[in-house]
Amino acid sequence: MRPLGFVDGKIIDLSENVVPMEDRGHQFGDGIYEVTKVYNGRCFALKRHMDRAYRSLRELRIPIVYTYEELEEMHNLLIKESGITEGGIYLQITRGVAPRAHGFPEHVVPRLTMSIRPASSNANLLENGVKGLLIADERWLRCDIKSLNLLGNILGKQRAQEAGCYEAIQIRNDVITEGTSSNFFIIKDGILWTHPVSNLILKGITRSIIIEEIAPALDLTILEKTFTPDFAKKADEAFVSGTTSEIMPILSLDGIRIGNGDVGPITRRLQQAYNEIIDKECGRKQ
Ligand code: PDD
Repeated sequence: MRPLGFVDGKIIDLSENVVPMEDRGHQFGDGIYEVTKVYNGRCFALKRHMDRAYRSLRELRIPIVYTYEELEEMHNLLIKESGITEGGIYLQITRGVAPRAHGFPEHVVPRLTMSIRPASSNANLLENGVKGLLIADERWLRCDIKSLNLLGNILGKQRAQEAGCYEAIQIRNDVITEGTSSNFFIIKDGILWTHPVSNLILKGITRSIIIEEIAPALDLTILEKTFTPDFAKKADEAFVSGTTSEIMPILSLDGIRIGNGDVGPITRRLQQAYNEIIDKECGRKQ
């Protein structure tokens, strides 16, 4: 079992130097990415992730040159060659390699690179919950695109880590948007609240699975409506959702306890349902 890269159609060692100096991803952050989780040696929700990658490419006017079947094959090849059964696959597509100039270059082909790594277990955090830090959302206005430009996100995450928190929850105009690498939900009086889909958040795959598959199955009411940080602090339960975070209970915001400060019963039911969906799709046995 070893981490691997995939560049120009070839499997490589991750330590190899392969990024051309004038790749626009390297110079401008001119590209998109996806992170897909591998459970039991199979990609989870790959179709949803690749559909979102296609959307991000269209929004950035980067030509689409790979079919879904090809992308699926590359993911499976990385799993097979690495021997990794529990891990994460990173996929990045940049506009291509060209002399540095802001406008789109002509006659370039988008450049795809990928990597696979084993996942470190976050079972302990999922079981016991984590702390959240509230920060100002300083990102650009197209957070719906999964672009390589993540400066606002990384600065926010770093602040959270320095404050001993798992995630920074971002606020724009007194409204909670999302985490730096996750979507944010609260539960108040039995209703799940989360920011509506707009240019201000990434439409998370985990978020979509909660809204489209889990909530109806558990007969839970979802409200995609904005809410303030003050409202969130008075919630009964809170959690963030994401490919890496899964359904991660948030027990406090800025040190203020949410509910009774324990992982709440609805969050637990959501976690269980999410695990069952993974078990079924990836043939995993608990
Ligand atoms: N996070 N919002 C932002 C800003 C993100 O970066 C992510 C993904 C999400 C959740 O999306 P999804 O459920 O599709 O992972 C929301 C990284 C890639 C992660 O969780 O690994």
